[in-house]
Amino acid sequence: MMTRRQAIKTTALASAAFATLPSAIAQTTATTTTSSTTIAPLEQVLVSTAPQPFKLPPLPYAYDALEPHIDARTMEIHHDKHHATYVANLNKAVADYPDLGKKSVEDLMKDLNAVPEKIRTAVRNQGGGHYNHSLFWQMMKKDGGGEPTGNLTKAIDANFGSFGEFKGSLSKAALGQFGSGWAWLVMDGKQLKIEPSANQDTPLSSGKTPLLGLDVWEHAYYLKYQNKRADYITAWWNVVNWDFVSERYAKAKA
Ligand SMILES: [Fe+2]
Repeated sequence: MMTRRQAIKTTALASAAFATLPSAIAQTTATTTTSSTTIAPLEQVLVSTAPQPFKLPPLPYAYDALEPHIDARTMEIHHDKHHATYVANLNKAVADYPDLGKKSVEDLMKDLNAVPEKIRTAVRNQGGGHYNHSLFWQMMKKDGGGEPTGNLTKAIDANFGSFGEFKGSLSKAALGQFGSGWAWLVMDGKQLKIEPSANQDTPLSSGKTPLLGLDVWEHAYYLKYQNKRADYITAWWNVVNWDFVSERYAKAKA
């Protein structure tokens, strides 16, 4: 039971929130406030208006754009559920630290030591999930694949011997990652390197610039490929967005 004071406070807060709500939600709220079960909907409204400094970026293409290599249902769940959950949990983690909410997720991940210890693990996992996936969507495109051109090709040849060698090494790192994680092409200083990361750890947190990342969490492939991670890795090369990766390389090198 709510006390009269709590009821007045809740109604006042809800009125303020109501003024900023989209019309569809506002209409629902208006309807429910006339019934005898007003408390739960109002609480939901109050929860939904809590500060959400980090936002889920839209998928830059349709769910089925990467078919047949990555299926539409996997993309939908991966983006709309998994990535969305990382964003929601990151917002929860920083809820009591408004200054952290003013930082970009990139800046958060670059300096985890600046994050209070109490929420550091949550930010590392949820912020890493948000940052890594935000990049991952852009690292793929419809009719992608093939090989990079220009300066990135030269750098890959110089560092790994050939594109084939590089592809083999990144695939091996992805296949060999025990459990959930990623395989990355990174810039470490002026040098290109391949390295895996566990869970949602991002190379950014160890001072490197991620150029290309391959998500080998089962949620990235299990619906279509089940336990066959190697088949997913082989297929994934067909959707790599080399334009985006080359752009990142040029910026990192500058
Ligand atoms: Fe993922």
